[in-house]
Amino acid sequence: MTAQHTWDQAVEPMPIDEIKSHTDGIAKNIELVIEGKSATVRLAIAVLLAEGHLLIEDVPGVGKTKLAKALACSVDSTVRRIQFTPDLLPSDITGVSVYNQETHDFEFKPGAVFANLVVGDEINRASPKTQSALLECMEEHQVTVDGQTYRLRSPFMVIATQNPIEMEGTYPLPEAQRDRFAARIAMGYPDARAELDMLNLHGAADPLDDLNAVSDAETVRRLIAGVRDIHVAEPVKVYAVNLVNATRESPELRLGASPRSCLHLLRTARAVAALEGRDYVLPDDLQSLAVPVLAHRLMLTAEAQMARRTTDAVISDLVHRLAVPHSRGHRGAAPPAPSVQTRPPETGQDPYRDR
Ligand SMILES: Nc1ncnc2c1ncn2[C@@H]1O[C@H](COP(=O)(O)OP(=O)(O)OP(=O)(O)O)[C@@H](O)[C@H]1O
Ligand SMILES: [Mg+2]
Repeated sequence: MTAQHTWDQAVEPMPIDEIKSHTDGIAKNIELVIEGKSATVRLAIAVLLAEGHLLIEDVPGVGKTKLAKALACSVDSTVRRIQFTPDLLPSDITGVSVYNQETHDFEFKPGAVFANLVVGDEINRASPKTQSALLECMEEHQVTVDGQTYRLRSPFMVIATQNPIEMEGTYPLPEAQRDRFAARIAMGYPDARAELDMLNLHGAADPLDDLNAVSDAETVRRLIAGVRDIHVAEPVKVYAVNLVNATRESPELRLGASPRSCLHLLRTARAVAALEGRDYVLPDDLQSLAVPVLAHRLMLTAEAQMARRTTDAVISDLVHRLAVPHSRGHRGAAPPAPSVQTRPPETGQDPYRDR
């Protein structure tokens, strides 16, 4: 099997103002189906543009599968849905070589992962062996079967859902697997207004049936290329490194955030900035992403667990405590003494825009 669009092929990056209007269109389209979840929808789009994978973790019936399907429907590309069950085999995901009687040769039958958007529903219901079949694909954008390596097509995004409450018959994702997700989001309940809108607008028919694609794989590749061009000033990078380092030094955590998570943080921040039509990253972007990008990879110490702390709360505290860069004068150096100023000054040159 030959990949049509590999990671190596260059595309024309989309200009920043077009990125904004195009992603606004995708968000609006998804919100025809999902009520009252604007921030969640935008984060899901940001993860797609950051070339990341998304884990949607929440209680039953809050629209996890619906969000994954709506995003997939909005982008005209190849989509595969995998319902994870205990009897799902690794080869169902990656593919298998079968013997062709006519050609007297082995032929590769691609598995479900050979798609632009892969919706993995209830991922923690599959055996660890099957879960781990996703590992190589997610990180390296390739699949190896019988010693032969096949490249996946760009864009490639896994959107996995899981229910954190029901533990019976599930296999919790191992740390290495969790680390491969750029972000974890919880849907949360809609507010009363949004829930009423849901009843009024979606009570009779499923709006997903009428949802049209407003983008396609080629355009998403241009969006991704545009996001890669978003500028990150040195002090902002230092801030990201400090944030990740703070998790490693926290006495409440026995596993801190990985260097991979630092990359995910920066890439997602670029995408979030681009969604707002900004061609540079602010420390605020990192702050707002710290919980969704870092919290799911961390492990609490036994004491912190006993004290009923959560990794979300630990990260939020670290973000509050850590000094925020506020001037280009600190380029490349450690951030200055704690400052609550997270936005560039209202007047004068924007300190994060030093191309
Ligand atoms: N915010 C929302 N806006 C619109 N519809 C919603 C919202 N939340 C839930 N729903 C509706 O609730 C139903 C259940 O949603 P869905 O199947 O996506 O839930 P889920 O979180 O995947 O649940 P499970 O964990 O049981 O698989 C769907 O019909 C969906 O449209
Ligand atoms: Mg579901």
